[in-house]
Amino acid sequence: MSADGVDLKKRRMLTAATSVVGAVGAGYVVYPFLASWAPSEKAKAAGAPVEADISKLEPGQLMRVKWRGKPVWVVRRTERNIADLAKLEPRLADPASDMPQQPEYCKNPTRSRKPEYLVAVGICTHLGCSPTFRPDLAPADLGPEWLGGFFCPCHGSRFDLAGRVYSGVPAPTNLVIPPYQFLSDTRILVGEDGGAS
Ligand code: FES
Repeated sequence: MSADGVDLKKRRMLTAATSVVGAVGAGYVVYPFLASWAPSEKAKAAGAPVEADISKLEPGQLMRVKWRGKPVWVVRRTERNIADLAKLEPRLADPASDMPQQPEYCKNPTRSRKPEYLVAVGICTHLGCSPTFRPDLAPADLGPEWLGGFFCPCHGSRFDLAGRVYSGVPAPTNLVIPPYQFLSDTRILVGEDGGAS
């Protein structure tokens, strides 16, 4: 016990505890500074293009890749899927893809660089849920006129197999088509199109 009545042992413990808190606090202050002047490899990778090997993708199947933290779908459409796209046009909100939801080179009836493959960001344009891939024809829950597409379970928006939104659903626009290019017949690069237009 010191002359001012403070327990010296307790004071030493309090001082040590304060130093630890100070050090941790300083660490939190320093980190954002470091992060801001030295972008990490992870941060750089987050914006980088992503390559997808589609050699094992069969007609009627979907594969997912992650680009900029978002799901990107690659769907290999069947010949029937491609033929059915035109039949759906009267039921779509933007059948000709007039809204800028795709690069110019995908403003076409299949919204793609090759009719066989759809590449689309798998995020609903209403409030951002991830729609479900429903390639089945006329399933009981989606009705006899369903020709395959994507169904958003959050509020019921529907999209066809080109990612075009149906009329009268909550989602206001077609799904986003990201920039991409074919590196070969079996490899796609998502996020980089070589400046194509
Ligand atoms: S988020 Fe898809 S319909 Fe609402």
